[in-house]
Amino acid sequence: MASLKQGEFIGSLDCGTTSVRFIVFDKHADIVAQHQLEFPQYYPNPGWHEHDADEIQQHADKCVEEAVKALEESGWAKESVKVIGITNQRETTVAWSRKTGKPLCKAIVWADSRTKNTVAHYEHKLQVTGIEVSPGVWKKGQDGIDALRDLTGLPLSTYFSAIKLRWMIDHHPEVRTAHEADDLLFGTVESWVAYNLLGGVETGVHIGEVTNASRTLLLNMTTLKWDPRLLEFFGLRESILPKLVSTSEVYGKVAYGALKGVPIGGLVGDQQAALIGNKCLKQGEAKCTYGTGAFLLFCTGDEIVKSGHGLLSTVAYQAGPGAKPVYALEGSIAVAGSAIKWLRDSMNLIESAADVNTLAAKESDTGGVYFVTAFSGLLAPYWDPGAAGLLIGISQYTNPSHIARATLEANAFQTHAIIQSMKLDSGTDLKHLKVDGGMTNGDLAMSILADIGGFSVVRPEMRESTALGSAICAGAAVNLFGWDLNKPESLSEVNTKGNRIFESNLPEAERKKRQDGWKDAVERSKGW
Ligand code: G3P
Repeated sequence: MASLKQGEFIGSLDCGTTSVRFIVFDKHADIVAQHQLEFPQYYPNPGWHEHDADEIQQHADKCVEEAVKALEESGWAKESVKVIGITNQRETTVAWSRKTGKPLCKAIVWADSRTKNTVAHYEHKLQVTGIEVSPGVWKKGQDGIDALRDLTGLPLSTYFSAIKLRWMIDHHPEVRTAHEADDLLFGTVESWVAYNLLGGVETGVHIGEVTNASRTLLLNMTTLKWDPRLLEFFGLRESILPKLVSTSEVYGKVAYGALKGVPIGGLVGDQQAALIGNKCLKQGEAKCTYGTGAFLLFCTGDEIVKSGHGLLSTVAYQAGPGAKPVYALEGSIAVAGSAIKWLRDSMNLIESAADVNTLAAKESDTGGVYFVTAFSGLLAPYWDPGAAGLLIGISQYTNPSHIARATLEANAFQTHAIIQSMKLDSGTDLKHLKVDGGMTNGDLAMSILADIGGFSVVRPEMRESTALGSAICAGAAVNLFGWDLNKPESLSEVNTKGNRIFESNLPEAERKKRQDGWKDAVERSKGW
């Protein structure tokens, strides 16, 4: 391999909900090499969704190995990878043993809604006993709910990690015993993958990154520290928690494999990574990523904007240890690409995900059909864990194309509802929405989004924004290419390939009529 060229590249390990990929970028965000693998999904009961944390790691390791092979095949030495970043599906909860480094049970995935009763229990606790906000001072009822939201930026929901962890402790004897014996380590996926890459049980590096931590219901949003009041409220020991780290710093070096010795310089939740990858680093900039779910993040700068309209406040990034955090408002939609996967795998309406656009294009409207894709309740801005998936408006006239179209419209209606909430919370009316993620490859899906939403949709040509975001964090940590999260202008040469813009063409009265139909359908799906 003596003839291989030396370059300066950054690797990004993107551990998503259904697949893992490793992408090697150059300084312009051109992709030099990559490898992607889907990994098994487990749905053991209705509403349940699990991953095997070991399988996530094995697929991640394989992707790194194969991408490095591809890099070498294209003539570059693997030493060209100067640093790597890791980005991940958020909230998914992993419990493993401090002694063995092995998972104690399957990971509970963010979209899993089995914990409805756990949520109801803590809602009741907030109502009746409340939460102790300072010694001897308890807030309960609506004040308790508000206090939890003020501390964490989040509502009580099946979505967040503390609820999933509590369920594991209450239902898996191995996890309960480990919690009692101080053998339990808790982490979200970045924490688990970093633990392994940094040496696993041998080195025992147990770290957790702040954007991910801000999705657990255990992080104090203002201080960026684990909050003892929250641990007390959920009955959790502090020793199970990872040491908090920023989004961009060197955490250590890869302990094994093709990239042994390469520093890990970025850890970031995937939606925050996509915000960074889209260069939405300043107050007022927003993006929506359409992956398994869809997630709209609106950067609010150093201000924590509290939503009165069903959105979350979340950490967007922390540019280094001790740096002032940047925050975002977020609207999370649980089901986006996964509805298309369902049309493909469970309904056999299409052969490949991309076919949804071809099928939907055969009709110019849905023929009055609405599809509320509440497969595991509804997240923002509705927050109803009991909402059920609902196809309504079906008649003899309905055909598969109407249903395909209604599936694409479901994303558009939910995106529109979130943008309405953002407008009310931030006072800013979004006229353009930057998009990325697998679903945005479909031109029809994007036209429907612009029509229903009533805004322009801006789709970049290079749409690996999530992986790019973690590469930017990692590059900034080692001062590569002059990248600096505090200086958006330092990224001016990054991903300059241009955009395609989809304009809204639906008359306002028709848009309003369809949105009213959607609202009605959502009401009917609630509280099933
Ligand atoms: O909050 C869940 C989110 O991080 C999952 O993202 O891209 O895997 O659907 P994605």
